[in-house]
Amino acid sequence: DTAGGTDRYQVTQHAARVRILPGVDTPMWTYQGAFPGPTIESRRGRPVTVTYRNELPVPTVVHLHGGRTPAASDGYPTDLVLPRGWREPMDGMRHMPGTGGMDDPRAVVTRLTRTHTFPLDQRPTLLWYHDHRMDFTAPAIWRGLAGMHVVRDDAEEALGLPAGPRELPLMITDRAFAADGSLAYPALDPTLRDRPGVPERYLAGVLGDVILVNGAPWPVHEVDAVRYRLRILNASNARHYELEAVTDDGRRLDLVQVGADQGLLAAPVTQRVLPLAPAERYDVVVDFAAVPVGSRVRLRNRLGTGRTREVLAFRVARRATDRSRVPRVLARDLPAWHRGDAVRVRDFAFRAGRMGGGHGWLIGGRPFDPARSDVTARLGDVEVWRLIADVHHPVHLHLVGFRVLSRGGRAPLPSDAGLKDTIALRPGESAEIITRFDGYRGRYLFHCHNAEHEDMGMMANLDIV
Ligand code: C2O
Ligand code: CU
Ligand code: CU
Repeated sequence: DTAGGTDRYQVTQHAARVRILPGVDTPMWTYQGAFPGPTIESRRGRPVTVTYRNELPVPTVVHLHGGRTPAASDGYPTDLVLPRGWREPMDGMRHMPGTGGMDDPRAVVTRLTRTHTFPLDQRPTLLWYHDHRMDFTAPAIWRGLAGMHVVRDDAEEALGLPAGPRELPLMITDRAFAADGSLAYPALDPTLRDRPGVPERYLAGVLGDVILVNGAPWPVHEVDAVRYRLRILNASNARHYELEAVTDDGRRLDLVQVGADQGLLAAPVTQRVLPLAPAERYDVVVDFAAVPVGSRVRLRNRLGTGRTREVLAFRVARRATDRSRVPRVLARDLPAWHRGDAVRVRDFAFRAGRMGGGHGWLIGGRPFDPARSDVTARLGDVEVWRLIADVHHPVHLHLVGFRVLSRGGRAPLPSDAGLKDTIALRPGESAEIITRFDGYRGRYLFHCHNAEHEDMGMMANLDIV
């Protein structure tokens, strides 16, 4: 629905049986009955309002990841959309020790539907929306609450990058299934978590053994022998990928990166391998003219083992004319923040620790508390944040994009190019990022985007004043 210069959508969250595996339906939690949820297409600067209805049996929270969104519409973890008949919003939430703020009912905003307004006054890019309910984000995303949202503008379209059917948004997730087709998820059971000897693989986050692309297991996509623009999103809860495009005769095709989480790079960067942490996006162009018609190009994950090494395959079906191009200059609007612009330097350690008598994942030694102020930044200020990690932690900031200044005391990686909203910290690694707190005042978040780590405390408030 389009009225008064605003695009309006109604999105109902409901349980549905989705055909993912051959011959069997999977009961899922969905946006509009589909997994992924419907892809929303928007123009830069044209506001979008979405009214979310909740027909699931549990409260939900919806966040638009990468959106430059006023705080009231950002999907703060206690901004619940309650289901019909939900009487005791507190009851389902006490299972997580150490989250003291939830004991205060006044901290919880509760409604049956919620309308979010997205100004989308931001660089065009691939955003995604997903559940963000406090303590329950990981199982909710796992059950299906994720979808894509593309923002476009005239300047980007004028570049001549592959478009239309030659532009493919690819949401990559892993899932595990029981024999009857239902999703298998190791329950976030505190009695299990508080017991000594909790398996390491459980604390590390939940992995599946089936790789889905746009909800289909290991799809084969037919392509023309021309350039394609792949808009890759890792929407997995915890799985990391190192993607490469491999031909039948074992050659690796160039992945020409044109964009990052927060839009176009200044200039293309040729990659052979793309490291892809949870929530990261890469915008890449692949030229299938480089392989014989009739052959295949497989997108493979070097970090996978057995069948999780495969992600998807392209079958090059026919020759075709290609009028697309990859210009040497893509964007001139990338912020050029320098260390000297920063009015403050902050340090954050992302590490395991004790939480409410059990195991948690902490930022600066503390688990998430919605009632506590962690960082207060002034609107318009430039800051440098120094991040350090014990194990893999993909760190995400709401509202703002940032640039990577350094990694492990050295220059950033080629894959750190451009404007990011999520940085993949590797085990034992430190990194420096720089950003400007720009946009809106209010309470936002930063957190680890390993969804299980997030639920186990690795999140903090970012107050912009
Ligand atoms: Cu993708 Cu705070 O989220
Ligand atoms: Cu986000
Ligand atoms: Cu983490």
